[in-house]
Amino acid sequence: MRIILLGAPGVGKGTQAKFICNRFSIPQISTGDMLRESVRDGSNLGKKVKTVMDTGALVTDEIIIDLVKERIKKDDCKKGYLFDGFPRTIPQAEALAQQNIQIDSVIEIRVEEAEIISRLAGRRVHLSSGRVYHMINNPPKQKNQDDLTGEPLIQREDDKEDTIKQRLKVYRNQTEPLVNFYQEKQKEGVLSYQSVDGDKTYDNLFKEILIYLEKL
Ligand code: AP5
Repeated sequence: MRIILLGAPGVGKGTQAKFICNRFSIPQISTGDMLRESVRDGSNLGKKVKTVMDTGALVTDEIIIDLVKERIKKDDCKKGYLFDGFPRTIPQAEALAQQNIQIDSVIEIRVEEAEIISRLAGRRVHLSSGRVYHMINNPPKQKNQDDLTGEPLIQREDDKEDTIKQRLKVYRNQTEPLVNFYQEKQKEGVLSYQSVDGDKTYDNLFKEILIYLEKL
């Protein structure tokens, strides 16, 4: 099964991605996590993308497409995968289509902006595992510590309020056109497109997505 999770920053793509990937035993391919890993490693790629990410802009299509092409060659992708945060522009989606990669389903998660801002402002992450918490909605067992390793949680540089607003603007201008792009693909019978209201509990949202995926 090959799935794309589409939606603005903070709608819960990463959170739902983990549930879906566990359920279907497929890898989560998060371009955001891959880029953050390269920043942490201090690689040339990391040096190139850090400032762009910190300001809430998008990394170039060229870099992202190369990154994804390499990732999906790995053995764990043979039975499928879930893209979380990719594609994010029309050229990225076209690059995917040009590779003859058959996507089964695009799931769009929708949440109002005020709720997104509160979700992102309260988010804390464990960088090395990508585990995500929320200070109120999903707090760690011990304040500011990852449940499994006890290591400190951090606030992402791009989760400051001004940067969140910038990311939402970038989403509206550069990523939202993909809604129409993939709805058209559904009309052509190429894939299934499902839009879900993300303003519900973690579990209820997952249940709704699961009912849809199990019918595919
Ligand atoms: P990326 O890491 O992909 O960030 P994003 O798309 O902005 O998404 P987020 O990780 O912020 O949010 P999410 O939807 O995963 O929400 P989450 O589940 O964490 O990208 C970062 C940057 O990398 C980009 O800005 C760009 O620079 C670059 N980049 C990445 N991919 C790129 C690409 N393809 N092209 C170009 N550049 C790229 O949830 C958020 C919070 O809400 C958490 O605290 C969570 O606990 C809480 N929460 C989740 N669900 C619920 C719920 N149902 N109820 C209450 N709270 C909830």
